[in-house]
Amino acid sequence: MRVSVIGCGYLGAVHAGVMADLGHDVVGLDVDVARIERLRRGEVPFYEPGLAELLKSALASGRLRFSTDPDDVAESDVHFIAVGTPQTEGGTAADLSHLEQAIEGLIPRLRPGALVVGKSTVPVGTARRMKDRIIAAGVHADLIWNPEFLREGHAIADTRSPDRIVYGLDHDAAVSRTAVTMLDDVYASALSSGVPRFLTDYATSELVKTAANAFLATKISFINAMSEIADVTGADITALADALGCDERIGRRFLNAGVGFGGGCLPKDVRALTARAEELGAGESVAFLKEVDKINLRQRQRVTQLATDMLGGSVYQKRIAVLGVTFKPHSDDVRDSPALDVAVQLKGLGAEVVAADPKGVENARARHPQLSYTDDAEVALASADLVILVTEWDEYRSLDPEATKALVRSPKIIDARNALPRDDWRSAGWTYQGMGRR
Ligand code: UGA
Repeated sequence: MRVSVIGCGYLGAVHAGVMADLGHDVVGLDVDVARIERLRRGEVPFYEPGLAELLKSALASGRLRFSTDPDDVAESDVHFIAVGTPQTEGGTAADLSHLEQAIEGLIPRLRPGALVVGKSTVPVGTARRMKDRIIAAGVHADLIWNPEFLREGHAIADTRSPDRIVYGLDHDAAVSRTAVTMLDDVYASALSSGVPRFLTDYATSELVKTAANAFLATKISFINAMSEIADVTGADITALADALGCDERIGRRFLNAGVGFGGGCLPKDVRALTARAEELGAGESVAFLKEVDKINLRQRQRVTQLATDMLGGSVYQKRIAVLGVTFKPHSDDVRDSPALDVAVQLKGLGAEVVAADPKGVENARARHPQLSYTDDAEVALASADLVILVTEWDEYRSLDPEATKALVRSPKIIDARNALPRDDWRSAGWTYQGMGRR
């Protein structure tokens, strides 16, 4: 299939690479000239395991090219819209300006019979609006909303074989059958390996995505709320989660208590769903999501407070090694990162913070140049009065308590991801505090 991918950020760059790898003829389009130049050279503007190799081989095969010229997508049969829908500046709703620009730029270039496929995460009602634009322009093209569920750090595998494929269809349109066949051809490999495909309406497809992220966020905030109770009762949140998770109806995944969720998706999607529900007059139905957000943000304060307590009431002029700045391991993404937030809060309280991260330093420095950074954990640990593990990179999980003790000034550690073997650290003489496992 001749495929275009409009928007070559995280989602789009991965999607374009995987589509080309599957044998499609792909052009990736973006307005960001510098990004496109890098992608053309096979360089990935962010960290995603395996993506650079995938892009290089797809570019070499001649099936993948990148462009900033909108005319270059005119020959494509299927156009994936993969632009970002970030939180609006100063608000909680999703900013749809990139999406609007993408659609407006695409409409005059659509061939008759072309298919537009929306992958971006959008507020319910957006697909209908976009389809109405296409109809109003008098173009004979269809639109399917096909949300993306990939996780950063696992983006290639998730794109190649997702848990499910959802098609949101325009039930008013007679052309939808042809559109389904076209998209089935694009996804032939995943479909033939048995990935379930759901045919539904626009609103349901949009909501599947936001509801999935809201549910995951709720699960994390639930266990974090329980970890607050654990802290005041002496219960152990990890043992509690293990026991809870044995119930298949609950499940153990996404029940790890800690500093909470961040990134470019969960936080903004929770807020955008609340904002959209309020617009629709149904705000009360998801009012609990405001609490989910509040519980989540409170975890960052909890870590800062714990640091203050462990340093005798003040962090002022204390040297603190913050291990991790990204919102999770296997990513260089620092958007809404709890780890970076904790580092910034401590710096604001007068601590001498040295933040370490194997991949995220460049992005973190661009946002918060006031902090000291290193990609070498040992540099951060040297003479530290307190260590805080905030992003559970493998290299931090596997730190040796004895060897680490020899580096620091004072063997005190906050395991803000409950990722370390607590007993080993305690027996090595560390004052160890987890989240909900005192
Ligand atoms: C999330 C969803 O998991 C994807 O399915 C979705 O496609 C994506 O958003 C999106 O909307 O594009 P991602 O942002 O990559 O993916 O990150 P997650 O793996 O979901 O983790 C989110 C945050 O939750 C991280 O900060 C992580 O540390 C935190 N988390 C996760 C916990 O605090 N506890 C857990 O038990 C699990």
